[in-house]
Amino acid sequence: MNILLASSEVFPFSKTGGLADMVAALAGALAKEGHEARVVTPLYRGIREKFPAMRKVDWFFHLPLGLKFVQAELWELDVARGLKIYFVDQASYFDRPGIYQEDNFSYADNAERYIFLSKCVVHLARYLAWRPDVVHVHDWQVALVPALLAQQKNEGWGNPPPTVLTIHNLAYQGVFVEQAFALTNLPESFFNTEGAEFFGLLNCLKAGIAYADIITTVSPRYAREITTEEYGCGLDGLLRRRQKDLAGILNGVDYNEWNTTKNPHLFKTYSVGRMAGKKVNKLELQKFFGLPVDAATPLFGTISRLAEQKGVDIQLGALAEMLNTKMQFVLLGSGSPEYERGYRDLVRQFPSKVAVRFGYDETLAHRIEAGCDFFLMPSRFEPCGLNQMYSLRYGTIPIVRATGGLDDSVIDWMQNPRLATGIKFSDYTSRSLAKAIRKALVLFNQPKLLQACRRNAMHADFSWEQTVHNYLSIYHKCTNITSS
Ligand code: ADP
Ligand code: GLC
Repeated sequence: MNILLASSEVFPFSKTGGLADMVAALAGALAKEGHEARVVTPLYRGIREKFPAMRKVDWFFHLPLGLKFVQAELWELDVARGLKIYFVDQASYFDRPGIYQEDNFSYADNAERYIFLSKCVVHLARYLAWRPDVVHVHDWQVALVPALLAQQKNEGWGNPPPTVLTIHNLAYQGVFVEQAFALTNLPESFFNTEGAEFFGLLNCLKAGIAYADIITTVSPRYAREITTEEYGCGLDGLLRRRQKDLAGILNGVDYNEWNTTKNPHLFKTYSVGRMAGKKVNKLELQKFFGLPVDAATPLFGTISRLAEQKGVDIQLGALAEMLNTKMQFVLLGSGSPEYERGYRDLVRQFPSKVAVRFGYDETLAHRIEAGCDFFLMPSRFEPCGLNQMYSLRYGTIPIVRATGGLDDSVIDWMQNPRLATGIKFSDYTSRSLAKAIRKALVLFNQPKLLQACRRNAMHADFSWEQTVHNYLSIYHKCTNITSS
């Protein structure tokens, strides 16, 4: 099949979270299976310098955006056999210091930037000599594509390809003032309660849910959760109406990137059969963070966007309670200044037990995954979550709240003592998390049990070779829907 994917982030070109990892890995897996995947994404600042092999395409975009026309150029990079990335080069939109924001303020013209990107995706789908069988868009930034393609049909394109929308996070919907709708150049008939309108505002993700042929999200449990009022972020009604076209597919992991045996980021490689290297990573990590270097002190870690979703509030509460025991905690994160302050206070309170780094650091992320004994991920909600799956492969026991993809990817003792891979808790409270941390401390002192749990964790397999077939059946399903 020919699959045209679109995403505002693709690893290793741009990344603020798991979206970038997922899209890159899915596209790679499709290509490996013998299909042809092409991904459309913005040419953000610095990408061209880092990937000098990219070529300029002889194609000049000149697309309407409300009352004006906007121009762009196109670059392409062949990443592997069957995998090509198209970069939309529009300097005034994308050649900026940040992807979505600067200094914690979203760019004021995000609607304009991503409506333009969506229009480029549609233009490519229509005019590339290479014909996509399916267009697969990810998150709100490109969620207007299905509506824009439907309009192309009204305007005489006989047979546009079917569309799949993957929701990576229902909490980010791309909601803008009504006037932004004019930038889409869609007829008013798209702006109603069954379409792009949400209480008088433009809602890009809602438009995607309304017009895509099939909607997927990134875990089975989250697919169920988002049809409820509690997790539906105001769109549960529409999602319930589209339930027969809604599927949950747990993300895979790119084990070429995230592994412990061939990994340039690690202090020392290791594997299930040779665990000595994990201890070296732990001691080096303690040294790096300036904590007492001691293999016998259980080390907990977190790598996260510091956002409400990630359960920072209950984590701060639970750590304040538990750090009086023998344990250490390290954090790599960035996001809300208020949460950063919370962690700084914790460091001040427990200087020899807590260390934090604010910012984005790929190498340190791998080192924390490898060096810690336990990984904390107490999310309020979590569509899939990748870090807990990376932790499993790194033999770092995840402690997760039983929600969304966290619940689908971790097995607790209570579920199956023989196959347990981690520790889960349910109530969204500091007390509940503290109790889970206490369980981890007990486990740490039972080397045989800990070893068995690590072994289970490291053997858990979330490879894309399996997952990709779920997407392929979705693609086949939607090509059948539109051709019948
Ligand atoms: P989300 O996409 O909601 O942020 P995921 O768990 O799916 O959560 O993915 C997060 C990804 O971003 C992981 O690859 C994680 O390692 C990475 N990440 C998050 N924060 C940082 C950071 N400060 N530095 C490096 N990598 C980070
Ligand atoms: C989103 C979600 C996260 C998921 C990622 C990749 O950022 O918050 O749970 O793992 O997308 O699908």
